[in-house]
Amino acid sequence: MTVSQESALNPDDNIQQLNQDITETYDEQVYTSNAFPFSSPGHLRAAAHLYGLTTVPLENARVLELGCAGGGNLLPFALAYPQAKVVGVDLSSVQVEQGQEVIKALGVQNLHLHAMSLTDITAEFGQFDYIIAHGVFSWVPPEVREAMLRILRDNLSPDGVGYISYNTYPGWKAGDIVRDAMLLHSHSAQSSEDKLASAKAMLNLLSDGIAASNPLAPSLRAAVAQLQKHSDYYIAHEYLEIFNNPCYLLEFVNLASQYNLTQVGDAEPHAEMSATYGQNVQLHHSLIALGQPREMRQQYLDFAVGRNFRKSMVIHQARAGQVLISPDLERLAELRWAGKFTEVEPETNAPKGMVSFRSYKGKPLHISEVNVLSVVRALSEVWPASLDFDSLLARVRSELPDVKDDTAARKNVLEALQTLFRLNSLRYTLEPSPYDLVDKADQKIPTLIPGFTHMYQQSSDPGFGIGNFNLWHETINVSLKEAEVFVLRHIDGKRNRKQLVTLLRDALNRGDVLATDGKSLKGQRNLDALADKMVGKLLELLSAQGVLL
Ligand SMILES: C[S@@+](CC[C@H](N)C(=O)[O-])C[C@H]1O[C@@H](n2cnc3c(N)ncnc32)[C@H](O)[C@@H]1O
Repeated sequence: MTVSQESALNPDDNIQQLNQDITETYDEQVYTSNAFPFSSPGHLRAAAHLYGLTTVPLENARVLELGCAGGGNLLPFALAYPQAKVVGVDLSSVQVEQGQEVIKALGVQNLHLHAMSLTDITAEFGQFDYIIAHGVFSWVPPEVREAMLRILRDNLSPDGVGYISYNTYPGWKAGDIVRDAMLLHSHSAQSSEDKLASAKAMLNLLSDGIAASNPLAPSLRAAVAQLQKHSDYYIAHEYLEIFNNPCYLLEFVNLASQYNLTQVGDAEPHAEMSATYGQNVQLHHSLIALGQPREMRQQYLDFAVGRNFRKSMVIHQARAGQVLISPDLERLAELRWAGKFTEVEPETNAPKGMVSFRSYKGKPLHISEVNVLSVVRALSEVWPASLDFDSLLARVRSELPDVKDDTAARKNVLEALQTLFRLNSLRYTLEPSPYDLVDKADQKIPTLIPGFTHMYQQSSDPGFGIGNFNLWHETINVSLKEAEVFVLRHIDGKRNRKQLVTLLRDALNRGDVLATDGKSLKGQRNLDALADKMVGKLLELLSAQGVLL
């Protein structure tokens, strides 16, 4: 719906009807509810620290998510911090019920999901230290947007941090055109399938069929290419939803200030730093933004980078004076760091003289500096646990080049972290991560993070709308072979690796499961070495995904 169509409605009279319409779209096409690491309380606490802010420790934190869908963005936190109080609300009872079933199956005591409109939340709903709304603000009527800010004003504790993400200009200008064209071509469709098919047909005109003389062709092609990477449900919800209202950062800042709230900056603070985008951006941004307030500097940067999505952290205006003008990179030394990278053969197009790595999520990383290489290797060794600055320094110190004294060594490691931070390659946290807190009596017993096996089993049901996750709050997609699922079912925190190998060997021999190459090994002897290899590979995979404690 375009802005003019939207304003033709009388919002006061229509809010119930609009909520009903929105509910139906989500009930009909369930939105996969995933974990987003940058919106997790642990990440927000660390990011807020870089902006100079104190926040509430995680252990007993009270967390509220608005528009939580099936609760997939709350489950990892609730499981990692059983003493925390975690609440989610969403209009869609279908999504909430799925979440409630998972909560029941996993025996989660501290997470409660409510099927209700966030507009019905009042101050009596309680105080929360972290209030999160990911992917909601742009997709709801103005009254609901304002209710979200009212909730932040009335329900956020004094040291609390709110998180609201939204589509933003200037990056979404091209998206607006794509959306308008898709809505136009699909407006008379009778079913949601037809609507999606018509809308997708329009994408051909805006990519292959676009005139070379169209001055917006590069931006439109890029917007279409971006869109085509996504699944149908994402396209339906992101582009065909009743509402999709991007705004400029400054519009968001102004609206927030009407609710006595201050926008701090992006929850991915590296994205708020002009140096992240290269020397030219840094130079010109520093010239034009000289002497400007923080929000204006951020808005200028949005113009330079064409930002189309913001993940704003928001606090009470009373604390505005505490916010630093930009994230303090010296404070990186006060955080704990984690990451998992595997060295790979350099790709043909990899920059010369670089060592190539791939994150366990497939993200490439090319490094030449010795200090950065050492940090990446040291963190990968301890993953999924994290290291504080001093422990990291101790591990890499002997490898650092030309380090005369402690000060030089610290500077070297801090610079390596700054590089990796700008590349957004690592996870970071202010307090020990859930992996650092586990008391593992016996390191030799493989132990899965809570919930993993159940979530994995559910994921084979195409109607299941909640993503699997690790305790870094990352969405995990693993696809296991029959024999691996067999082993997974037996990883219970009691059996050691040898026992798992024996179980698999016998199952292969009985023909209960096929080998990972799909062959039956029924009746075969001497399967120990093969079973050992298969178990080893599986444990390695699970460890890389951060699902082994
Ligand atoms: C685009 S989805 C995002 C879901 C989830 N936060 C995520 O990012 O995966 C928007 C969600 O907001 C919910 N929603 C929309 N209006 C709402 C309202 N008034 N109160 C509560 N939830 C609402 C929808 O039901 C839907 O689940």
